[in-house]
Amino acid sequence: MMLLIAIPLFYVITFSHASLFNGPAVRQVTEPVDHGEGPTWDPRTNLLYFVDIFEGRILNYNYLTNDLNAVYLHGNTTPVIPTKNNPHRFVVGIERSVSIIEWDGKGPITAKKHLVTVSKQFPTSRFNDGKADKEGRLWIGTMGFESSTGVVPNEGILYSISKDKLNDPTRVIQPVNISNGMAWNKANNKFYYIDTPTLTVREYDYDSKSGTISNSRIAFDLSKHKHIGGFPDGMTIDKDDNLWIALYYGGAVIQVNPKTGCVLQLIAIPAQCVSSVAWGGHDLDILFVTTSKHPLNPIERIKQPAAGSLFAITNLGTQGLPMYYADIIDELH
Ligand SMILES: *[C@@H]1O[C@H](CO)[C@@H](O)[C@H](O)[C@H]1NC(C)=O
Repeated sequence: MMLLIAIPLFYVITFSHASLFNGPAVRQVTEPVDHGEGPTWDPRTNLLYFVDIFEGRILNYNYLTNDLNAVYLHGNTTPVIPTKNNPHRFVVGIERSVSIIEWDGKGPITAKKHLVTVSKQFPTSRFNDGKADKEGRLWIGTMGFESSTGVVPNEGILYSISKDKLNDPTRVIQPVNISNGMAWNKANNKFYYIDTPTLTVREYDYDSKSGTISNSRIAFDLSKHKHIGGFPDGMTIDKDDNLWIALYYGGAVIQVNPKTGCVLQLIAIPAQCVSSVAWGGHDLDILFVTTSKHPLNPIERIKQPAAGSLFAITNLGTQGLPMYYADIIDELH
């Protein structure tokens, strides 16, 4: 009799702790696109928005139903950022221009308004990554023209764009080569930034009231981690202020402690070109990961059939911080 009682108890204890012993689970959740980038979660609609830059598409993915919707814009499109007052209104970057669009998430674009064009001195440069800060300002960076021989150097600029200075974007960091991942810490007094070819994440003091940064230092240097390959690309942050960084050509996402510069976790993704990361799901505990197949040759595409897909990583044992909405325009018309 004693034994019969003891065995079920043992199982109960084991199963209740199962999540502590299982590692992260990586799951491909969409079909491949050409160059997935810029994921962002909107809790109002439970949708994960992202872009397919060179196809000029914005897409949304519903984690509960698995539905994927897309709409075409004209030109290289990135980023897509939901706005504060209307979940069907988005700030989008197209080439070097910022526009506002209205999209119900399924049908055609129902309104579009051009707001501002930047970097006229670098006509072949284009927007890359962008995010809204807690006050709704837009932080959006550019990069020089990219060809098979590389990126035109020093033509990137990180801008911030606020409602009161819509026609006069502030140059925050200049020059950069490939303006990429950004994140703000939980206390909203640090800003993290990636200029991809530097292989580093820079940390700045952040003044949320004025939207200014100061006191740059290197928080993470990938070149010091010889066993990890690739280039730091998109980035997000978790509730413990650790950074999550997509490694382009590195086939992985890493979790980094920016205070120590240590890599805490490396999660392999079955696609070499991992472009960006964003937390989503009801509890912000699913890490969505965009990837690209754009630079792969035909043989690499056969070897990496999932390249270009959106992935979801679960069971990471942490959660993200909520994303912010853009708030740079009151009325569309
Ligand atoms: C951009 O890349 C060029 C060429 O590699 C390099 O000389 C330059 O220092 C880089 N610029 C920045 C801002 O890192």
